[in-house]
Amino acid sequence: MAVKEYYTPTHVYFGEGAADMAGKVLKENGATKVLIHYGGGSVVRSGLLDKVKASLDAEGLSHVELGGVVPNPRVSLVREGVELYKKEGCDYILAVGGGSVLDSAKAIGYGVYGGGDVWDFYCGKRKIEGIEPVGSVLTLSATGSEMSNSSVITNDDDPDMIYKLGIKIDYGRIKFALLDPMLTATVPAYQTACGSTDIMMHTFERYFHQGYALDITDELSYALIRSVIKWTPVALETPDDYDARANLMWAGSISHNGLMEAGNANPGDWGCHQMEHEISAEYDVAHGAGLAAIWGSWARYVLPEGPERFSALGEAVFGESDPVKTIEKFEEFFHSIGMPTDIKGLGLNFDEAACRKVALGTTFNDGRTIGNFKVLGTEDVFNIMMMASGLK
Ligand code: NZQ
Ligand code: ZN
Repeated sequence: MAVKEYYTPTHVYFGEGAADMAGKVLKENGATKVLIHYGGGSVVRSGLLDKVKASLDAEGLSHVELGGVVPNPRVSLVREGVELYKKEGCDYILAVGGGSVLDSAKAIGYGVYGGGDVWDFYCGKRKIEGIEPVGSVLTLSATGSEMSNSSVITNDDDPDMIYKLGIKIDYGRIKFALLDPMLTATVPAYQTACGSTDIMMHTFERYFHQGYALDITDELSYALIRSVIKWTPVALETPDDYDARANLMWAGSISHNGLMEAGNANPGDWGCHQMEHEISAEYDVAHGAGLAAIWGSWARYVLPEGPERFSALGEAVFGESDPVKTIEKFEEFFHSIGMPTDIKGLGLNFDEAACRKVALGTTFNDGRTIGNFKVLGTEDVFNIMMMASGLK
């Protein structure tokens, strides 16, 4: 049995009012001038940005701002951030927002530290050897980027060929995360559901793998999935319910910080994520919705590789040990929270050529396989896309 790592250095401050600690925590971390990075305006409208700035002012910390991060964050804004950080002599980045803002902040950190063009790191041309310090005030429970080693950036250099690539490296685990569940009370219903789907998927991706699985890790995974299924409808019904928002927020962080794969033979499958990244790069859909749209087709396609894994999950979550019915139950849940379970539900109409394009994009034109529960090549991805599009 190979030795596996579990490394979660991020200092987490969890609970109502955590965002008020921004200035104090930054100061304790040695910051003097902070680049505050945020998205399309939700933090301006909610008053959070002003609150964060006031907290920095109270500690005598100077700051500059860069807003405008879009979902599926773009490298063009990252490059702007790198220049601004250097020009202003900043020494800390504070991401105030969801996963896109966090990923963009990490990318700025890589770009400043490494010099040159930041995209080199994402396309694998150069190796990351460090990062400027990053902290976060999280406003959306979804990606787990606040504790993950990952950053996903979309290249928009050529508007006719937009693509998305992720990096997983421990430098990407940020210094601190201020997790105030009530900051997520303003997240719209659709985005809340997308977030919950992503949280479940980060657990599924790790759960579905071949080889040794540690019993306690499986049990934690079941508990996490049950909790998301329990609390998402409550958050949709009563957006400011603290219990719902708190459970979803913590589920998001621990779903993607390594705990759900600790002790297992390998880090998981990740095929659905790789297919979805191709879809969201090409069609700019929300990540969670893209995952929900393909998961059922993926599950049916790979089922013969390990029906007992589906049975155990179904039994623990729904009291349902039939593997096919288990997949259906998860799809029913996605429907119940307003998520799509096929490509049409995403608002897209794939024909055979579109399925082929996504398949080739996902495997880098036959340059790689994806998945571990079942290893998938271009033809497999094509078949899954055809199933998800109702063409097979
Ligand atoms: O931009 P603003 O105006 O802030 O609005 C955002 C955005 O429109 C809004 N929002 C966020 N917090 C809000 C809020 N609206 C009202 N109230 C609040 N409190 O929500 C929208 C979506 O935000 P975004 O950050 O894009 O969502 P998410 O957190 O789902 O991030 C998605 C990105 O993360 C990547 C995805 O591929 C996608 O690019 N991922 C990153 C991962 C990682 N770094 O570990 C792992 C994931 O698997 C994923 O791939
Ligand atoms: Zn994800």
